[in-house]
Amino acid sequence: MLLSFKNSAAPLNRRVYLALKGGIRDGRFPPGSRLPSTRALATDLGVSRNTVTLAYEQLAAEGYVSSRSRSSTTVLGAVQPQPQPAPPLVAPRVQQPPQVSAFASRLIRDKVAPPTAAFGRRPGVRYDFRYGSAALDEFPNEIWRRLLSVHARQASRDTLAYAAPAGYLPLRTALAQYLQRARGLHCDAAQIIIVNGAQQAIDLVARLLLDPGDAVVVEEPHYPGATKTFEAMGARLLRLATDAQGLDTAQLPPASAAARLAYVTPCHQFPSGTILPLERRLALLDWAARTGAWVLEDDYVSEFRYEGKPLEPLQALDRQGRVIHVGTFSKTLFPSLRLGYLVLPHVLTEHFTAAKWMTDRFSMLLPQLALADFISSGQFEKYLRRAGARNAARRQALVDALTQHFGDRIEIAGGKTGVHLMVWFNGMGPGEVDTLITRATQAGVGLYAIAPYFVKPTVRGGLLFGYASLSVSEIRTGIRKLAALVPAPRRKK
Ligand SMILES: Cc1ncc(COP(=O)(O)O)c(C=O)c1O
Repeated sequence: MLLSFKNSAAPLNRRVYLALKGGIRDGRFPPGSRLPSTRALATDLGVSRNTVTLAYEQLAAEGYVSSRSRSSTTVLGAVQPQPQPAPPLVAPRVQQPPQVSAFASRLIRDKVAPPTAAFGRRPGVRYDFRYGSAALDEFPNEIWRRLLSVHARQASRDTLAYAAPAGYLPLRTALAQYLQRARGLHCDAAQIIIVNGAQQAIDLVARLLLDPGDAVVVEEPHYPGATKTFEAMGARLLRLATDAQGLDTAQLPPASAAARLAYVTPCHQFPSGTILPLERRLALLDWAARTGAWVLEDDYVSEFRYEGKPLEPLQALDRQGRVIHVGTFSKTLFPSLRLGYLVLPHVLTEHFTAAKWMTDRFSMLLPQLALADFISSGQFEKYLRRAGARNAARRQALVDALTQHFGDRIEIAGGKTGVHLMVWFNGMGPGEVDTLITRATQAGVGLYAIAPYFVKPTVRGGLLFGYASLSVSEIRTGIRKLAALVPAPRRKK
């Protein structure tokens, strides 16, 4: 009997089973034929009879053969023999577009997922000004590791079971106290829902507050993580211009426009970095109260403010319960933690808790346990002070280096808060900036255009500089190398 079953790492009975199944599929054992008895085949192959019996039982369970006894096993006719070698075990690739929902089609149309190459270290790019990285050199790794391992070792029936969708209560309590103390929010633990980063908060808001066709006010320039989420939900974007003070609230649409939501970044307009002044904050809240719209306040980075204390969030000024406040630990701790939070008006907590449960049950418990201790022990705020000082030194080094090398050929925006700067290049168009990005990459400097954050092409070209993860000397060297690529202006005679 021609059975090749030896060259594989699988257990013997599985190899015998695969070889027999292959024989049935390619017609060597046609329907109605009898397989050898288990004893005969075992002798033939030099394996135990039990090995062959297990293989026959598996074939019988899958409907390839019928066994009346150990000596009588007949091939069934359900599988039509294919005389060619069996096809390789890969999923078939169907060419036509798959039938998917309108939501899925919009995700592909709007290219919401960045390419894999957008993540991780870029080979050869030593000075990477990528936006989004955090200052990790001050992070107390030892303390964090200890907290995680203490909780992992104490794993109990409670911590290994399904957990509450709104999040671990001691974390929500510690967070509410921190937000009241340090940020002036009016909230208690019942209003807080722990989520997987600000992105999940935005996604839940879109699902719960918008229907296809609904109008949403967004800032221009904008944060694609939010605008693409709203568009994927089928919402209509009402893009409102921003100026040197942030969102131009005088242009908020009338009640007849029936906007259901306004998404704003008042702490540090993304990406321009302007801080919304009090007058406009109040105008926005007044508009929400008059029109019945919700306001989604994305407070992604206000902990790092370099001139004065962090500004009062919209939520702290809200007397009508229209503000949904979103915070994240991506910039204050590290992005792979994937923890953020929603501070909700009381009337919405039940809806968001239900949606969180429907979406992914709850955020991973172990990091929540560690974070609760990290915040309540005071480590979080201690760390924020150290990371803030680092970020301030890096921001200053970047501003100084840019000013030294480029002078009035550039315009810097957004330096008062946050972990990035927006820099316009006077006299350079977006195309020239793209060429500069390519040349800089070859010189080991990672640069990022501002174009993806604007709907219409801008007249001047610009770059977004993230600085939190680079040392002061790396920032200086990176900008020196960049300056060497930009021709100096001709002196006027
Ligand atoms: C405007 C804005 N919101 C939120 C976030 C944070 O997103 P997440 O918490 O999902 O990492 C970012 C991060 O880049 C951001 O730029």
